[in-house]
Amino acid sequence: MKIAFFSAHNYDIESMNELAKQEGIEHEFEFFEHRLTYGTAPLATGCDIVVIFVNDTANAAVLHKLHEVGVRAILLRCAGFDMVNLDVAQELGLIVLRVPAYSPYAVAEHAAGLMMSLNRKYHRAYNRTREFNFKLQGLLGFDLHGKTVGVIGTGKIGALFGKIAGGFGCKVIAYDVYENAEALSYGIQYVSLDEIFEQSDIISLHCPLFPSTHHMINEAAIEKMKKGVMLINTSRGGLIDTKALIRGLKSDKIGSVALDVFEGENGIFYEDHSGEIMADENFTKLFTFHNVLVTGHQAFFTKEALSNIAKTTMDNIRAIETEGPYINQVKK
Ligand code: NAI
Repeated sequence: MKIAFFSAHNYDIESMNELAKQEGIEHEFEFFEHRLTYGTAPLATGCDIVVIFVNDTANAAVLHKLHEVGVRAILLRCAGFDMVNLDVAQELGLIVLRVPAYSPYAVAEHAAGLMMSLNRKYHRAYNRTREFNFKLQGLLGFDLHGKTVGVIGTGKIGALFGKIAGGFGCKVIAYDVYENAEALSYGIQYVSLDEIFEQSDIISLHCPLFPSTHHMINEAAIEKMKKGVMLINTSRGGLIDTKALIRGLKSDKIGSVALDVFEGENGIFYEDHSGEIMADENFTKLFTFHNVLVTGHQAFFTKEALSNIAKTTMDNIRAIETEGPYINQVKK
C-alpha cells in the first residue's frame, strides 16, 4: 500500500521508519511536511491511506478531494478527532482510525510542569539569571499544598493530572459528564461545573473539543471564578474564548494562564515564524502579559509517546490492509 503522511517532521519520520524496519513492513511511505489542506490534498494522489496530525484539516472539501484521488482511509496520529468531518467521512465510506492513547502521562506531566512554572515563574527566572540578574522581585509564588485544583474532564489525562496535583497536597475537585473510577480512586471529588469555577485556585482543562464544549471558558464562566485563578489548557484551544480570556487577564480576575493549545494554532504551531509579523492579534496580545506562558502543542512530545503513536499507527495500517477489525475506529 502507498501511504501519505502529512505534517511529518523529522521525529515522526524517524519513529515510523524505525518501526517499519523493525517489523519488516514494506509499504511505500510518502512524508510531507505540509499540513493537509484542500491545496495539499492532491499530494495524496494514488495513496490508499492518509495519515494526519492535530493541525491538519479534514473538512468536507478536503475529504471529497482525498476520496476523488483514491484514498480509502484517514489515520490520525493523535487522540482528538475534532479536525475530521466524520459525517462526510462516513458518507464517502472513508474509514477513520485514531491513536486513542499514546501517553496520558506525557500530557498530564506537561500540565503539571506548566502549573509549577506559572506559579514559581521558572521561565522568567531562567531569562533573568542568564543575565546575572538575581533579584527575586516578580518571582513570588504560592504553596500548592492546600490549594484547590479543579479538573475539567477526568478521562485518561485529567485523572492523572488530578493524581499529580493530589501528590502536591492539593484538594482536587473535578467535573465530567461521567465519573471515572480511576479518578475516584485518587481521592478526586466530583462537583458541578459552577463549583469548579467558584472554588478552584487552579483550573486545568482536559475534556475534548465538541460543539457543546466550544468556548466553555467564556465571559460568564470567568466571572464565576476566584480572583487570581490560574488557568491551564493542554486540551484544545477552542475550549477557551480568547477575547474573554484577555479581558479576564486585563482586569486581574485571571492571575495566570498557561496554554499549550490555542484556538487559531493551525498554521502557527509546529512551524518557525520568527522573523514574520503574526497576523492573529489575539495571539500576539497574549504575549504582552508577563503571567501568560505558551508552549506550542508540545504536551504529547515525549519519546514514549512518539513510539506509541508509531506503533498504533502501524497497527491501524495493518487493520486497513486486512479490512478490519477496526478497533481504533472513530465513528459519528
Ligand atoms: P479521554 O477521552 O480519556 O477523556 C476525556 C474526558 O472528557 C472524558 O472523561 C469525557 O467524559 C470528558 N468530557 C466529555 N465532555 C465533557 C464535558 N462537556 N465536560 C467535562 N468533561 C467532558 O481523553 P484524554 O486522552 O484524557 O484527552 C483529553 C484531551 O486532551 C483530548 O480531547 C485532547 O484534546 C487533549 N490532548 C492534548 C494533547 C497535547 O499534546 N496538548 C495530547 C493528547 C490529548
